[in-house]
Amino acid sequence: MKKILVTGSNGQLGSEIRQLEKQYPAFTFTYTDVDELDLTDEKAVDNFLKNGQFDFCINCAAYTAVDKAEDDRGLARLINATAVEYLTKACATHHTFLVHISTDYVFDGTNYRPYVETDPPSPNSFYGLTKREGEEAVEKFTDKCLIIRTSWLYSSFGNNFVKTMLRLGKEREELGVVVDQIGTPTYAGDLARAILDILCSKKIKERVNIYHYSNEGVISWYDFAQAIIRESGTDCKINAIESKDFPAKANRPFYSVLNKAKIKKDFGLEVPYWLESLKLVLEQLKSS
Ligand SMILES: NC(=O)c1ccc[n+]([C@@H]2O[C@H](COP(=O)([O-])OP(=O)(O)OC[C@H]3O[C@@H](n4cnc5c(N)ncnc54)[C@H](OP(=O)(O)O)[C@@H]3O)[C@@H](O)[C@H]2O)c1
Repeated sequence: MKKILVTGSNGQLGSEIRQLEKQYPAFTFTYTDVDELDLTDEKAVDNFLKNGQFDFCINCAAYTAVDKAEDDRGLARLINATAVEYLTKACATHHTFLVHISTDYVFDGTNYRPYVETDPPSPNSFYGLTKREGEEAVEKFTDKCLIIRTSWLYSSFGNNFVKTMLRLGKEREELGVVVDQIGTPTYAGDLARAILDILCSKKIKERVNIYHYSNEGVISWYDFAQAIIRESGTDCKINAIESKDFPAKANRPFYSVLNKAKIKKDFGLEVPYWLESLKLVLEQLKSS
């Protein structure tokens, strides 16, 4: 049995991994969040990894409040960069293969075609900058790692755009949603399955490897909101607005579509279309 440590496991991705646990009997899982293992505590991290002797660690922990990070810089950097350095060093010392999750927001969004893994990162927000610093720490301190960049994550767990649209759609008759930010939503359950399939596949190479993973398709937040409202049967008019008319603290990339050819080819993954996954999550939310 291979042992997997899942850090930050109370969040969207960690919760989805927990849901899938029974389908992966080849693994035993240990779940921690900040109460059991605060990744900003270097000594605690080293001890936990030393005592656990894990084969894999999936790091789902992060500071994910993109706008808040602009003001809360110390904490955002501590969790997204410094703590990742601590975890990476502990993984390297105790022979644990690290799967670290990063973001499309490491790119500035000026591309004209989906981003490949070798495109140079150039974050335009503090959150994106700290996530890039986390990637750099991983690249520097271990050779046994996958970094998976994903985008627009949502789930029936935690807070996310889907849940916000469902709530606002019930409260209001009309909503303005930005139409000039283009990307791809990702159901955290699909990403969780992809990660576990990769760990099962025995095709992992012992060096730092960056991969991109999102659902299939390319849409704007406006299209996503339209689909959420339509598929949930909510009666609310969605108006297309520009980012300049919806001022936010943090800049966001205008175009952050991720090219997934590498992860599909290397691991033989099938990636679900975003609308199919959205329908699944809306069903889950309806029956919960
Ligand atoms: N959400 C998105 O749209 C999105 C998009 C692209 C990439 N990503 C990346 O995908 C990954 C998973 O995201 P997610 O949406 O599942 O995140 P999430 O729901 O915000 O979960 C993150 C978890 O990490 C925990 N955490 C925070 N500080 C910690 C610490 N010091 N030690 C241990 N745990 C700590 C959080 O606890 P608290 O809640 O108590 O703080 C939370 O349970 C992250 O790396 C994120 O950057 C997310």
